[in-house]
Amino acid sequence: MQLEARPAGPLTGVARPPSDKSISHRALLLAAMADGVSQADQILEGADVLATAAAVRALGADLDRTGEDCWRIRGRGRLAAPRDDIDCGNAGTGVRLLMGAIAGYPIRATLTGDASLRRRPMRRVLDPLMQMGVRAVCADGGRLPATLDGGGLSAIAYTLPVASAQVKSAILLAGLNAEGLTEIIEPERTRDHTERMLQGFGARLEGGETPAGWRIAIAGGQRLSPAHIRAPADPSSAAFPIVAALITPGSHIRLTGVLLNPLRTGLFETLRDMGADLRIENERAETGETIGDVIVSHSPLRGVVVPPERAPSMIDEYPILAVAAAFASGETIMRGVGEMRVKESDRIALMTQGLRACGVAVEEEADGFIVTADGTPPPGGARVATTGDHRIAMAHLVLGLAARAPVKVDEADMIDTSFPAFAAFMRRLGADIS
Ligand code: S3P
Repeated sequence: MQLEARPAGPLTGVARPPSDKSISHRALLLAAMADGVSQADQILEGADVLATAAAVRALGADLDRTGEDCWRIRGRGRLAAPRDDIDCGNAGTGVRLLMGAIAGYPIRATLTGDASLRRRPMRRVLDPLMQMGVRAVCADGGRLPATLDGGGLSAIAYTLPVASAQVKSAILLAGLNAEGLTEIIEPERTRDHTERMLQGFGARLEGGETPAGWRIAIAGGQRLSPAHIRAPADPSSAAFPIVAALITPGSHIRLTGVLLNPLRTGLFETLRDMGADLRIENERAETGETIGDVIVSHSPLRGVVVPPERAPSMIDEYPILAVAAAFASGETIMRGVGEMRVKESDRIALMTQGLRACGVAVEEEADGFIVTADGTPPPGGARVATTGDHRIAMAHLVLGLAARAPVKVDEADMIDTSFPAFAAFMRRLGADIS
């Protein structure tokens, strides 16, 4: 299915963006590993998380959908060997967290995914897991499918060579069932939902600053108790209506219940640096995380240099930041984001191509890109190739809402992986997308 976004009036109103993808994956997986019945509410029912639900079912957990977005999960305190290969679809988070979880149990499992996921690097997870004692065979180049034989693990001390919460989380989940104390050093901190949620399921972890970076330690042999999780709204999804409101004159929107974990809100900081009128209200705690409402009004934006050390806290948000930059005056320099090239697509290449097709000046570099604009709406008027990447599609559709001419994306079905009913959500705020 194609979608087209046309320039229209302001965005106004109140809405709750879909639930957080990172937290939804983790809730189902930890509940499956726990001993007893957990409840997970407000779970994102996008394709990625539904693939994780199917995976944990194949690994022996009982899952019931008790209502819209509500799941009851009976975990057995361990994972069981699956009968068939596990297909994680498009989900990097799903497959990498599952690898870490499976590693801890004496079972064999083969994991695979769609064409995009089968192109993505898995060595970053398999290497530390193999150091812990997992036997693993994967396709050439460290790709999926991968077959893991878990169990009998020993703890390791590991410094993350790439800033990746998925790698960290896989090691922590394996560490839960390893002998000894597993220690991880993060030279750059990444989202800590796994650490927070493990504590919510009764595990003990240590965390603290050291000269080498942030240290996390988990002792092996801990059992997880059931928990009740309510997933907050996803700041990475909120990012799209937020930027749409910032670039569309007259807009004023409130997005409710958004996750405000400081390791996820780098985009909000960057947009404020650019001059955005973006405020937080009603800040409160919910199941181990901070949430609140984000209120945004149309704002003239100026280009900025995004500090590279901010990258892990907004790595999925650079495509939509680049769209904000296309409406700003001056240069927006985004560097230190080479990780964007190994996401659902090569996002640096696709944003460069897509924005250029819409008449925006973009310079591509090995580990980043620079957008230059003059503060007036760019021409738009293009049909953009997304190669099935949900965030590339949403970013260009948002551009089309405020460009001089409509923007089409060649494939929009994949938007459902993270933002089910995106077009309808945006239409309710006043956007013209169909
Ligand atoms: C995620 C971590 C990030 C992010 C992804 C979700 C997570 O990936 O891009 O969308 O839930 O842990 P990396 O760990 O590869 O940086």
